[in-house]
Amino acid sequence: MRMVDVIEKKRDGKELTPEEINYFVEGYTDGSIPDYQASALTMAIFFQGMSERERADLTMSMVQSGDQIDLSAIEGVKVDKHSTGGVGDTTTLVLGPLVAAVGVPVAKMSGRGLGHTGGTIDKLEAVPGFHVEIDNDEFTRLVNENKIAVIGQSGNLTPADKKLYSLRDVTATVNSIPLIASSIMSKKIAAGADAVVLDVKTGAGAFMKELGDSQELAQAMVNIGNNVGRRTMAVISDMSQPLGFAIGNALEVKEAIDTLKGEGPEDLTELCLTLGSHMVYLAGKAATLEQAREKLVSVIKDGSALNSFKLFLKSQGGDESVVDEPEKLPKAAHVLELEAKEDGYVSEIIADAVGTAAMWLGAGRATKESEIDLAVGLELRKKIGDKVQKGESLVTIHSNSEDIADVKNKLYESIKVTKNKVDAPVLIHGEIKETK
Ligand code: URA
Ligand code: CA
Repeated sequence: MRMVDVIEKKRDGKELTPEEINYFVEGYTDGSIPDYQASALTMAIFFQGMSERERADLTMSMVQSGDQIDLSAIEGVKVDKHSTGGVGDTTTLVLGPLVAAVGVPVAKMSGRGLGHTGGTIDKLEAVPGFHVEIDNDEFTRLVNENKIAVIGQSGNLTPADKKLYSLRDVTATVNSIPLIASSIMSKKIAAGADAVVLDVKTGAGAFMKELGDSQELAQAMVNIGNNVGRRTMAVISDMSQPLGFAIGNALEVKEAIDTLKGEGPEDLTELCLTLGSHMVYLAGKAATLEQAREKLVSVIKDGSALNSFKLFLKSQGGDESVVDEPEKLPKAAHVLELEAKEDGYVSEIIADAVGTAAMWLGAGRATKESEIDLAVGLELRKKIGDKVQKGESLVTIHSNSEDIADVKNKLYESIKVTKNKVDAPVLIHGEIKETK
């Protein structure tokens, strides 16, 4: 086989065979196919697209390009949740203990990464003593006993995707539905998921800003999952403003605790109940979605969701007393309010920009080398649709620096107040059902 023929075929809009796709993925991973040929092919895919069959084949070739996690020693259906990202998305911290309390095994492999705030592991490390340096046997034992454990990313998962994603980043080919969908799904499958619940975000703060694009991406991922034998469904949720109130590591842990107690923000609670119901249902722990939701509501009410969080923290070295005494979490030196300059209604909270302000405070990493400050971040006091009076707080800023003029300006630019009444945005924009 010759790479130039594969490129030509896709350039002319023809369908590639599984062998041709695998030839490309293997050759690109081992370095025998150079960047310039891989970029020509990704650009051809960008313009010509890929059939459903090609997408499934590309996904599985990328899965097979590296290690695959074997979770077979863990009892039950391993349902993973994946979010396409956003600002202040505390759902993973809440959902883990929540569905574990209903008996769904949560075997989470997580990372740190770049962004407005840290990844799930960074956030959890705000709990004194908590660590993810456990070996595979310990991980398996903990999930079987407690139904939940988190381990740091190890091994060589989907090296083809890592290489391709970096290449796409510098060749203007990130924004291709078949390439995004296969990239995300390959990582979930390599990490051992039997079933996947996708939370595809839509709106100003999301990767996909238009609802139509978010639906198309969600459908593409659901089709891939189902075509390769993993039950998969998607929820399309709003990211026109940050989710919940907290954006920052320790602040989000506190927000997760509140939510597990049944005292969390309305939007975060509702999204967790929606995603959680689908996870419980796919794991076979409830006969219907309604029943799944009832179970989740009852473990919040009777305290078992909160206990599951305590047990999880304790089992991985964390001080579980933070759950009852959240003042033990890292605290910033300065707590300041961003005061509204006029009366009116909040009409816009540009999620991206608010995230950037949190990153400037030190809550996230701008580069791989940056250090995270777990204590700092933002707490929104108002959300879109809320009435506000001049002088009232829009945001509480937790900072370790006194010089935050830039952060304040950024926040004033990102939070718009108008005279006219504004409706709160819809939270759930739709669902893409599994195709059996
Ligand atoms: N996120 C991914 O993991 N892959 C993509 O291609 C785009 C976003
Ligand atoms: Ca939040």
